[in-house]
Amino acid sequence: MLSPSLLAADFAHLAKDVDMINRSEADWLHIDIMDGVFVPNISYGFPVLKHVARLTQKPLDVHLMIVQPEKFIPEIKALGAHVMNVHYEACPHLHRVLQQIREAGMHPAVTLNPSTPVCMLKDIIQDVYMVLLMGVNPGFGGQKFIEHTVDKVAELKELITVTGSEALIEVDGGVNLDTGARLVAAGADVLVSGSAVFRAEDPTEMIRALKNL
Ligand code: DX5
Ligand code: ZN
Repeated sequence: MLSPSLLAADFAHLAKDVDMINRSEADWLHIDIMDGVFVPNISYGFPVLKHVARLTQKPLDVHLMIVQPEKFIPEIKALGAHVMNVHYEACPHLHRVLQQIREAGMHPAVTLNPSTPVCMLKDIIQDVYMVLLMGVNPGFGGQKFIEHTVDKVAELKELITVTGSEALIEVDGGVNLDTGARLVAAGADVLVSGSAVFRAEDPTEMIRALKNL
């Protein structure tokens, strides 16, 4: 599956890029929310995202790079989000937060920074709809892929198989045709891609190519 990241879109013409994604084979639309605290950058907030949510025909895959993400469960729900991704590193009471997300009617997903090992998920893997592995340090698009992420995908796949969990594996950051092919071979189910899609000569065709890896 493919979840194009709107972070690499043309912010002066968001409606045009959302429309391109609507007409493409993309499965979801990936939305990156930052707070300048958990990550050293700020992207867009709810006044902008409510318009994106109105325009999109794709399910929203919302990635919160913020501290205390549970505070915003009602706002994310109001966007009509399909998946709400929270960072492992931002949630001391992760089990509770995942439960709150599910109770609000969304699919809960947990995201790991590059420095957080997969084994930290052992006691929570049964409770998540999806695990998002970062292929870069979160906060910016267009960064170089951290190769070790491919090994982490294989390790996570093993944990999912051994525990009988049904969690999906998503990877975000540095995904292009080359890294994407290796991630899918290692067991990734969903690829997020920002710059590889929006910097491509034909973004719609790149979405198709990444989806079919
Ligand atoms: C990074 C974001 C990503 C970003 C990926 O913090 O979480 O979703 O848009 O961008 P690329 O695909 O350019 O690495
Ligand atoms: Zn993201």
